[in-house]
Formats: sequence, structure tokens, C-alpha cells
Amino acid sequence: MNFIVENVNASPDKEVLMPETEHYISDWVIPFYHAYISDWDAKKKSILKIWETCALPNMDGSEQLSDYEGNQGGGYHAAIQAILWTDIQQAVNELGFTAPPILNSAWFQTYQLGMHHPMHNHGVAPHLSMVAYLNFVPGKHHPTSFMAPYNSLTDGNVLEYCPSDVQEGSMIVFPSALNHYAPTNQDDEERMILAGNIEFGDK
Ligand SMILES: [Fe+2]
Repeated sequence: MNFIVENVNASPDKEVLMPETEHYISDWVIPFYHAYISDWDAKKKSILKIWETCALPNMDGSEQLSDYEGNQGGGYHAAIQAILWTDIQQAVNELGFTAPPILNSAWFQTYQLGMHHPMHNHGVAPHLSMVAYLNFVPGKHHPTSFMAPYNSLTDGNVLEYCPSDVQEGSMIVFPSALNHYAPTNQDDEERMILAGNIEFGDK
């Protein structure tokens, strides 16, 4: 079983968004999961092998380097799913999904000094997306930052959630439609992530 990281910063509007009442809009609760991938050293080696052979030749871009465009149809996502199967399965189970998850796409992104990824989302289908941190140095690098789909009910400001305790081997699973961005890498050390989208098969 993975060590699951508590979402300690998830409710900056706690008094307003989580009042002592049964009367709230449950559809607006945001599923969000952060855990440390089990057996990380071995899985990292396997993932980096895929990176070297399948992704590295296609890494391209100006804001950040990615093989997202280059690997469409190439398909090493099944191999990534096999490596991270127990981690993905635990994540979707914890989030309350019972149908079998399918990692239907995967891609790598690296951020050299000055690179970033502007706010975006992964669409409404499939349901969930994931990001795993392959090279991440706390204090040097910023985690992915997530934007609430509604504004603060206290002051109307944008609500942003930056997960705490992100480290190499962290995996975050979130709704695909949730806006997020990667702040500019301000360090010489390259930041590296693996991203993917998860759909569900028949029960
Ligand atoms: Fe993304």
C-alpha cells in the first residue's frame, strides 16, 4: 500500500466551504489524491528506460520540452500502466471509482531553467489525469498548482491549491477538467514529470 499524503491545504475557505451543515453542493467537491509511488527506485528505472527509448527522440517545445505531440499513436502508455498498475488502481479506488482504470495516454515533460506550463486542463473525458514527479527537488522546484473551478466565497478571489510534501516519486491524480499549471522553473536543475490520462473500462 502507498503512503497517502493528506490534502492539508485543500480548504482555504474552510469556514465557508466546509460549514457545519449537511446543506452543500456535493457535486462541487473536488476529488484529489496524492501518494508516494511504491517501490519507487525500481519503477523509476523502468520508467526512465521508456523515456530514453520512446520519448527522448520526440522531446520538443519552447515553454517546456514534451513528447506529447510526438508520441500520439506511438503508445507506450500500456507499458507505463503495467509499471504503475497497483499505484493507479489504489488511486482510483481511494477516489471512489470501481470500474477498472485504463491509462489511455502518457507523456513526459521536462522543464529547464526558465521553462513553465501555462494554465490548462486535460478536457472532460476521460475522467481523471495523473502526474508523477521523476525529477523534483523540494525547495528548488514547484509542484503543479491547481485552480478551483469556482472563486473564493469569502472574497471572490481565485482559489489555488499547491499540494504540499511533493517529492520525487509523488503521484497526483485529479479530475481531468481541473485547471492547473507548472510555475516557471527558476533553477538550473531540470524538473521532470510523467503525465497521463485515465479512462474507465466496463465493470
Ligand atoms: Fe497538465
